[in-house]
Amino acid sequence: MEKIIEISDLCKSYKNGDKSMLKVLEGLDLTVEKGEMTVIIGKSGSGKSTLLNILGCVDGFDSGKYLFCGADTSRLSDRKRSALRGSEISFVFQDYALIEEETVLQNVMTPLYFSSKVKFGQRRKAAVKAIEAVGISELAKKKVSCLSGGQKQRAAIARAIVSEPKLILADEPTGALDSETAESILNLLFELNKAGTTVIIVTHDDDVAKKCKRVLSISNGKITEVTG
Ligand SMILES: Nc1ncnc2c1ncn2[C@@H]1O[C@H](COP(=O)(O)OP(=O)(O)O)[C@@H](O)[C@H]1O
Ligand SMILES: [Mg+2]
Repeated sequence: MEKIIEISDLCKSYKNGDKSMLKVLEGLDLTVEKGEMTVIIGKSGSGKSTLLNILGCVDGFDSGKYLFCGADTSRLSDRKRSALRGSEISFVFQDYALIEEETVLQNVMTPLYFSSKVKFGQRRKAAVKAIEAVGISELAKKKVSCLSGGQKQRAAIARAIVSEPKLILADEPTGALDSETAESILNLLFELNKAGTTVIIVTHDDDVAKKCKRVLSISNGKITEVTG
C-alpha cells in the first residue's frame, strides 16, 4: 500500500508566557496509508489539534520528519506547501468555520479560489456537485446562519471535498452535535472514505472510536495503536 503520511520522531512545543516550554508532541510516530480511515482519540489538551495543524501544513514543528505522499514537507517551497493546503488537504472543524452571512454555495466555492484543480468556469458546478454529495442540495442558496448544526457540518464537509483532496482532517467533527446527528455525520465521512479519500478524525469521544476499524491514541506526546 502507498503511504500518504509518514511521520517520525515529531516534536512540537509552545512557549509558555513565562518563556518556559510546553512540550506537546514528543517523538511522535504516525504512518497512514492511502485510503485509510483513522481515528485518533486523546484527552483535551493532549495535542490533537496541534497534530492536525501540522498534518495540514498549517503549522510547523521543531524536529522530526513529515513526509506527505513521500515528499518531505520541511523541504517544500512555500508555494508547494500552499498548494498542498489549497487542494490536497482539507479540514473539518467542530465549530464548522463557515461564513454565517454567506450562502452554502458561496461557502463551498471558497476553497476553489485557492486551488488550481478546478477551472474558474467550473467552480460553481463543482460546488453544486459537492453539496449534492453531502445531501443538502435544497439548502445550497440558504444562508449558513439559517441552518441546523448537522446541516452546517454537511456544508462544511461539502467545502472540504469540493477540491477533491487526498486527505480530510476532521477536528472533533461531531463535538457540537447530538448523538443522532453525530452518527449521520460520521457515516458521511465513512462514505467519503469508501469513495477513496483518506480521512483522519481526532476526538476525545470514545463513541466515535467504536465505529472505526483503526483507532490510535495520543497521550504524553506520542501515538499508540489501540486497534488495527
Ligand atoms: N498556540 C499555542 N500557544 C501555546 N500553547 C498552545 C497553543 N496551542 C495549543 N497550546 C497548548 O498545547 C496543548 C495541546 O493543545 P491542543 O493541540 O489544542 O490539544 P487538544 O486539541 O488535544 O485539546 C494544550 O496544553 C494547549 O493549551
Ligand atoms: Mg483540539
